[in-house]
Amino acid sequence: MRLVVTNMNLGLWAAAYIKEKISAFAPSPEKPFVLGLPTGGTVVDMYANLRLFYTAGLLNFKNVITFNMDEYAGLPEDHPQSYHSYMRKHLFNEVNLLPENTHILDGQTQDPAAECAAFEAAIARAGGIDLFVGGVGRNGHIAFNEPGSAFNTRTRLVELTPGTRQANARFFFNDESRVPKTALSVGIGTVTDAKEVLFLASGDKKAPAVARVMQPGEDINCPLTALKLHPHATLLTDPQACILLTGKAIEELASQMTQFPEAPHWTLETENL
Ligand code: GLP
Repeated sequence: MRLVVTNMNLGLWAAAYIKEKISAFAPSPEKPFVLGLPTGGTVVDMYANLRLFYTAGLLNFKNVITFNMDEYAGLPEDHPQSYHSYMRKHLFNEVNLLPENTHILDGQTQDPAAECAAFEAAIARAGGIDLFVGGVGRNGHIAFNEPGSAFNTRTRLVELTPGTRQANARFFFNDESRVPKTALSVGIGTVTDAKEVLFLASGDKKAPAVARVMQPGEDINCPLTALKLHPHATLLTDPQACILLTGKAIEELASQMTQFPEAPHWTLETENL
């Protein structure tokens, strides 16, 4: 896994990366680009930049198919905090994605197992995900795969930890009791099956998870570490998310930052640590 640390706006960096990937792929109706998408506070800027690229004529979503990682269970689609609402507001209503090309799990389904199986089948029918973009929970969760989730999990109904519900209470009038207790989420295996993954972590609240991923080995209690087993994975962070790095990781990063203070970003490969 590659750690990319930048002083740039992470959302701009990520949006530019996605734009380059889509352009290089040259998607067509016969060969659409399949993009896995996240929600959350970290990626709000990324969506703002994707919208800007679209309005500037630099990015076209006509032949792009999207799959979102997760959705709260029980929330109606039009609930202001549903991920359906989030995606409509931040992307779907603003760009030329075809409605039939966007996929979000139905949190109100009466049959979660069937809903999740259908989602996996739709991903497979689309030819798999070309680039899965994600955020990171404070406890290292990816999508809603909480610590302890097996690395081969698939899309399923999951329970949220008290810590995650507390972290997300800020979107629910700071009232944890309003945060759903369960969600439908792609599995860790669904994420790592993508041809490429790009995860974003910003701020000191994500520093423990970033520090863990930069230590040797994988850890089922930090789902983010599963990305280290992926051949084409990037974790994009700001310097604040790196404040708890230790050992060779911090030595190497500090040396690069001192040597090339004006570089647009600094890169570490976990295999070399
Ligand atoms: C939720 C989402 C995750 C996301 C995480 C981080 O729990 N299910 O996919 O990565 O929030 O969110 P934020 O960016 O708001 O810190």
